[in-house]
Amino acid sequence: MYFKFTVLSLFMLVTFAGCAGCSHQADERERGPDVERGRYVVEIMGCNDCHTPDYMGSGSSLPEEDWLVGGTLGFHGSWGTAYPANLRLILNSMSEHDWLILARTMRQTSPMSWVRLPKVTDQDLRAVYRFVKYLGPKGTPAPARLPAGVIPTTDYLEFPEPH
Ligand code: HEC
Repeated sequence: MYFKFTVLSLFMLVTFAGCAGCSHQADERERGPDVERGRYVVEIMGCNDCHTPDYMGSGSSLPEEDWLVGGTLGFHGSWGTAYPANLRLILNSMSEHDWLILARTMRQTSPMSWVRLPKVTDQDLRAVYRFVKYLGPKGTPAPARLPAGVIPTTDYLEFPEPH
C-alpha cells in the first residue's frame, strides 16, 4: 500500500514537474503576441491565397511552416506575368525597417494591387514581419516577372485589368 502510494506520488510529481517546464508554455512565450497578431493579419488579408502553393485547394488547412513560400503559378495580364514572391525568403533577408518601406511603396500593377498592403498600420506590418521571421526562410525564389506580351511557359492564370 505504502509502495503504491509512493509510486503514485512520484508519478504525479514527475507529471507536474514536467508541466512546470512545459514546452507548450515555452513555445507561446517564444512566439509572443506580435507573432500571433502577424499570423492573424496574414490569414485575414488572404496572403496565403496567392503566396502559398495549394493553400486554397487544401481548404486553408496547410500547416503554417509551409506558408508564404511563393509559387510558380503565373498571374498573367496586360502587365505581363507576375509570380507570387517567396515572402519567407524576402522578409527574412531584410530589416524590419526596410520591410515597412517595401510594403508602402511596392509595385501596384499586378494582382497585388487588390491587396491594400500600403494601408496596413505600421504595427500590423511589423507583426507580419515578426511572424515571417518566426517561421524562418524556406523554399526557392519565385520565377522572375515576365514583360507584357510574353506567353509564360509555366502554368498561369489569366487576370483582368487591375483597378
Ligand atoms: C491576389 C494574389 C495575391 C495576394 C492575395 C497577395 N499577393 Fe503579394 N504578390 C502577388 C504577386 C503575383 C506578386 C508578384 C508581383 C510582381 O512581380 O509584380 C506579389 C508580390 C509580393 C511582394 C514582393 C513585392 C516586391 O516588389 O518585391 C510582397 C512583399 C508581397 N507580395 C506581400 C504580400 C502580403 C504581405 C500579402 C497579404 C497581406 C499579399 N502579398 C497578398 C500576389 C498576391
